[in-house]
Amino acid sequence: SLSVQDEGNAVEALAMDLALKAGAMIKDKSGHALQVDTKESRFDLVTEVDKACEDFLRNQVQEKFPDHFYLGEETATEKELERLRSGLKDSEWTWIVDPIDGTLNFVAGMPLSVVSIGVALGQNMEIGVVYNPFNDELFYARRGQGAYLNGIPINVLPHDTELEDSTVSVGFPSKPEWRLRMLEAIGKVAPSARSVRALGTAALHMSYVGAGRIGCFFEHNLKPWDVAAARLIVEEAGGRVTDMNGNFLQLTAGSILASNGGVLHDRIVQLVSD
Ligand code: IPD
Ligand code: CA
Ligand code: CA
Ligand code: CA
Repeated sequence: SLSVQDEGNAVEALAMDLALKAGAMIKDKSGHALQVDTKESRFDLVTEVDKACEDFLRNQVQEKFPDHFYLGEETATEKELERLRSGLKDSEWTWIVDPIDGTLNFVAGMPLSVVSIGVALGQNMEIGVVYNPFNDELFYARRGQGAYLNGIPINVLPHDTELEDSTVSVGFPSKPEWRLRMLEAIGKVAPSARSVRALGTAALHMSYVGAGRIGCFFEHNLKPWDVAAARLIVEEAGGRVTDMNGNFLQLTAGSILASNGGVLHDRIVQLVSD
C-alpha cells in the first residue's frame, strides 16, 4: 500500500484533475440549465448540472479510492453527515465536495461559480482545490506547503491592514431566519469598511481572501462543502478561519469568518460576536 505522502500526492493530482473537468461542465452549461428545482425553500435551487457534476466527481473518487469517505452537497445522507459530526478517524481520507458553489449565479448565467474539492486526513484539511472555470483560476493548497493560484504562491493582505482599508465580503443565507442575523452583522461592519461585496459563492470569496484581493469574508450557517477546501487555502496563505465568535471552526462549519488573520479578524469578531 501507498505511504501517506504518496497517497496524498495521488489525491492531490486527482482533486486538481477533477476540478478542471467538472469546471468545464459548469462553464459549458452556465445559464442553460434545463431543470431548475427547489430544495428546502424557493430560495434554494438545484439543477441537473449540480447533480451530474456531483455524480461524476463521486464516481471518479470512489473508483480511484474505494476506501475513502466521500461527502458531497447533492448526495449527502443524514448518516454521512452524522459521520462528519461524530468526528473522523485519524488515518481516514475524507473528500468534502461542492460540485457547484454559486448555483444561483450558474442558473442566471453569471460567470461566478466554482468547483470546490477539499480532502481531509483525519480531522485536518490536507488538500483544498477551488476552480473558477470562467476565468481559468485554480486556487490550491496543501497542508504545510502554502497556497497557490495557477501555480504562483498567494498571500493574504498584511496583518496590520485595518477595516477601513479592507474590502469586506459577505454571503446571504437562503434560510430566512439566518438572513436577519446576517443583515445585522453586515450593519455593524459595513459603515467602517472600505467597501462590501457579495458575489454569491463562499468558496470564491474565501479564495480571494487567500489571494489578498479582499480582507475578509463572513456568513452565517454555511455547510461543510462550502468551506472545506477554501479554509485551507486561507490558512496556507497566512490567514485565519474561525467561527464568527473567533473560536475554532469544526469541519461541520456553521457561522464562519475568514480573514487575513491580523487586526481585521479581531475587529470583525468584536463587532459581530454574540
Ligand atoms: C451557496 C453559496 C452562497 C452562500 C450560500 C451557499 P450553493 O452555496 O456559497 O454564496 O451565500 O449560503 O449555500 O448552494 O450555491 O452551493
Ligand atoms: Ca446548494
Ligand atoms: Ca455551496
Ligand atoms: Ca452547491
